[in-house]
Amino acid sequence: MSGPSRRGLLTGGAAGAVGLAAGGLWGVGVSRPEPDPALAVTLSRGGPRNGLPPALLTPTPAHVRVVALEVVGDGGEEVAARAREVVESWRDEIRALHEHGLEGVVEGAPTQGLRPASLGITLGLGGSLLERSGLGGRRPEELADLPDFAGDRLRQEWCGGDLMLHVGAEDPVVSGSAARHLVGLAGDRVRVRWALPGFRRGAVTAKDPSSTPRNLMGQIDGTVNPHPDQAVFASQVLAVHPDPATAWMDGGAYVVVRRIRMLLDGWFAMPEHEREQVVGRRLDDGAPLGGSKEDDRPNLVARDDAGRSVIAQDAHIRLASPENTLGARMLRRGFDYDLGWDSQGRVDAGLLFTAWQADPRTGFTAVQRSLDEGGDALGDHIRHEGSAVFAVPPAGEDGQVPDPELWG
Ligand code: HEM
Repeated sequence: MSGPSRRGLLTGGAAGAVGLAAGGLWGVGVSRPEPDPALAVTLSRGGPRNGLPPALLTPTPAHVRVVALEVVGDGGEEVAARAREVVESWRDEIRALHEHGLEGVVEGAPTQGLRPASLGITLGLGGSLLERSGLGGRRPEELADLPDFAGDRLRQEWCGGDLMLHVGAEDPVVSGSAARHLVGLAGDRVRVRWALPGFRRGAVTAKDPSSTPRNLMGQIDGTVNPHPDQAVFASQVLAVHPDPATAWMDGGAYVVVRRIRMLLDGWFAMPEHEREQVVGRRLDDGAPLGGSKEDDRPNLVARDDAGRSVIAQDAHIRLASPENTLGARMLRRGFDYDLGWDSQGRVDAGLLFTAWQADPRTGFTAVQRSLDEGGDALGDHIRHEGSAVFAVPPAGEDGQVPDPELWG
């Protein structure tokens, strides 16, 4: 295994301006001959505590490939053994990929000639894997299947999965190629159930790479989120499992992945103030209606001169707020997806929504229930089409994929 180490290859004047201070540093390459130091975003490898999966490190990569796989087999020890083999083979490979990039691992890789692109690979386990392997006793209650929600229009072929690969990078050639390489390595022991590439505004094109990105509806999305620097982060995002049967998830996180189509065909024809009412925030700067800047706390009791709520009763941020959800919190990491048009000629694009939390029952599910019950105004403009929940165990001491012996 040879190849350049990614550490310290590229750091610039803006180093540390974005991202966490702790841990060794990885540079993010930008596709220019002479990188502008202001665009050289520096990533950390360790996060605020050991065991944080790469998917939760900041800054969020510009590209992601989420792949859900089924382990082939009828069940029991056959499935358990295959899953262990697959995860075991991925462990070493993921370490090598993080260290050397795909071009250092695979001869002739499509990533040759690219600068380091902050490849970060995170592995998740579905509840179905534990059940099918005869390890139901090790399934934490937090990993229960999600309930049905009123607005669900799920397509089963875009739901579930025994294993998840979440591959992030600054370049889609890197994320896609690394995902394909790992799936190929698993061979006929697995079958891809569904996969979705997602992206966000890249650091290269953003005038201010530290600003909150916009989603494909044009909204500033991701403002209210626990930050790894905050004391509440661990209690809201990282799971606590003192019980030996589920201790393999102690310090891990549960990720809910939803494929949410945006019904964009008529969205931009709506008057701007109506689009703002849907979410309860201004479109230009993301400030809550009635507020003056993005990080103002929404005033949910404010009324206008006519006595109407400034933030509508069915506004998305009102119904998703801690006030309406018993303080439910999760870390939302949304990525855009854009597959063009479907066979009916309708735009096929939306949000590859990922929500990370200590317990989806009091996190995602509590919020989605509140959105449903309050008649979320955004609900008329989106459609949930895919869904899955995975357990992401804490990474090992070396920051890598955990040993499959832990859960099996
Ligand atoms: C395509 C679907 C969605 C879009 C376009 C969307 C958009 C937004 C936007 C623009 C904001 C305000 C800015 C911010 O704080 O990030 C927001 C806030 C939020 N959204 Fe969504 N969202 C979507 C789906 C969801 C879902 C499925 C959930 C969870 C079930 C959710 C939970 C939240 C929460 C917790 C907040 C923060 C509320 C607060 O101010 O306390 N969103 N969303």
